[in-house]
Amino acid sequence: MTFVITENCIKCKYTDCVDVCPVDCFHEGPNFLVIDPDECIDCTLCEPECPANAIFSEDEVPENQQHFIALNAELAKSWPTLTEVKGASADADEWNGKPNKLDLLER
Ligand code: SF4
Ligand code: F3S
Repeated sequence: MTFVITENCIKCKYTDCVDVCPVDCFHEGPNFLVIDPDECIDCTLCEPECPANAIFSEDEVPENQQHFIALNAELAKSWPTLTEVKGASADADEWNGKPNKLDLLER
């Protein structure tokens, strides 16, 4: 089991989540974070930390976000690890809750 970051992180990237992870399994891209499913120990600590409510347990990912399970696994392989809070994207609060952000994902 792993936790998964979903669409509402895109262009928000608050990074509050990385501070609590005991095994440093967050990986950072230009405007999105992912969790490496091979590193996550399912501790649950990150889920309540996300101001965008973008983190779900793998078995609770909403139906319309299921593709993010594979996307986290894929991108975690090539993106570098992020272990410290670095502040949100500049206009994170404006993007928080906006639908259909997947097309804006930068790799
Ligand atoms: Fe890290 Fe725990 Fe979140 Fe997994 S559930 S990403 S181990 S904080
Ligand atoms: Fe993204 Fe939420 Fe972490 S917006 S960077 S999953 S705190």
